[in-house]
Amino acid sequence: MRAIDLIEKVRDKKELTEEEIKYFINGYTNDEIEDYQVSAFLMAVYFNGLSDEETCYLTDAMLNSGDIIDLKEIEGIKVDKHSTGGVGDKTSLVLGPLVAACGLNLAKLSGRGLGHTGGTLDKLESIPGVTINLNEERFLNQVNEIGMAIAGQTKNLVPADKKLYALRDVTGTVKSYPLIASSIMSKKLAGGADLIAIDCKYGSGAFMKTIEEAEALSRLMIKIGKKYHKKVFSFITDMKSPLGKAIGNKLEVLEAINCLQNKGPKDLETLCVELCSYMLYKSKTINNLNEAREFTYSKLRDGSAYKKFIEFIKAQGAISLDFNNFIQVKEIIPLFPRISGYIEEIDALTLGKVSMLIGAGRATKEDSIDPEVGILLNKQIGEYIKIDEPILYIYKNDKWDNDIPDILLNAIKISKTEVKEKKLIEKVIE
Ligand code: URA
Repeated sequence: MRAIDLIEKVRDKKELTEEEIKYFINGYTNDEIEDYQVSAFLMAVYFNGLSDEETCYLTDAMLNSGDIIDLKEIEGIKVDKHSTGGVGDKTSLVLGPLVAACGLNLAKLSGRGLGHTGGTLDKLESIPGVTINLNEERFLNQVNEIGMAIAGQTKNLVPADKKLYALRDVTGTVKSYPLIASSIMSKKLAGGADLIAIDCKYGSGAFMKTIEEAEALSRLMIKIGKKYHKKVFSFITDMKSPLGKAIGNKLEVLEAINCLQNKGPKDLETLCVELCSYMLYKSKTINNLNEAREFTYSKLRDGSAYKKFIEFIKAQGAISLDFNNFIQVKEIIPLFPRISGYIEEIDALTLGKVSMLIGAGRATKEDSIDPEVGILLNKQIGEYIKIDEPILYIYKNDKWDNDIPDILLNAIKISKTEVKEKKLIEKVIE
């Protein structure tokens, strides 16, 4: 078998066999196939796609390129959740404790932020003392003891994805259904959970710009999951505007804590409650979705989920549980709207890019981040803002550009007539 023949097959829209895909992925993982050949392969896939069957073979080859976590030692139902990435997405920090408080086990491997999107690991590490480097034994013990753990991917978990993703990032081949679906699902399957919830975002701040694109990606991921006899469901959710009001690592941790203390923004609370309720329902822990919802709300309202959060960060090394004076920035700049009115649009992509510019995110994987900085919105879509009220606050240290205030104000559309709240959850695909 030769790599060139396989590249030509994809270029000419001919189907690859399972053996051919295995050969290609193993060859690349073991440094036997060169980056330039894999780049050509990825571009051919980007333009011509792969069949669903080929995508399943690709996922399987990636999944088997490294370790697979065995969660057998964990008693009860093991669940996992994956977001396709967005701006202000601190869902895992709220959902994890909520799920654990409801009696399920969240065994989650997370990633770091890249570009305008944030990552759970960066948010967790902004809490002094918290580590995301848990070895397998500590990870499994923690899930068994408190019902949740969130860790970074170990080096040998889906190594094929690590190499492929880095190459896709620099060859313009990220946005491809088979490549995204195989990348996400190989990691989720390697994580070993019984039930996988996907939060598939659409809108300016997401990979998928439309509901239809998010739905197509979701269906592909569900199909892959079914091959492995896993229960997978996908929420199609809005990422035209940020989730919640906070963007930036420590700001998002505080917002997650507020949410767990029943003081959080409604969109974040709703998303977490709905995801948890669906997990309870789909895992047959509770056979009625409304009852699952009621149960989930009761665990949020009575403080059980917040208690779990405290147990969780303590278990992962938090040295202080005092979040007063948690954020230390040189300056907090209030930004005022140009007119009074109802907020119609807050462009997630622009806010994510500005947050990255002031240090909250990284442009390349090697960049360091500043956990203190970010943007805190004062209002969300549908709310009325007066001209003399700050529309948002910029938490900044040294990284700055004088155009930022104008860029942000241009990203927020204000209407003179009433505007409806955004519809956060478009649909659920199973
Ligand atoms: N997230 C992933 O893990 N992989 C992709 O390809 C895109 C988003």
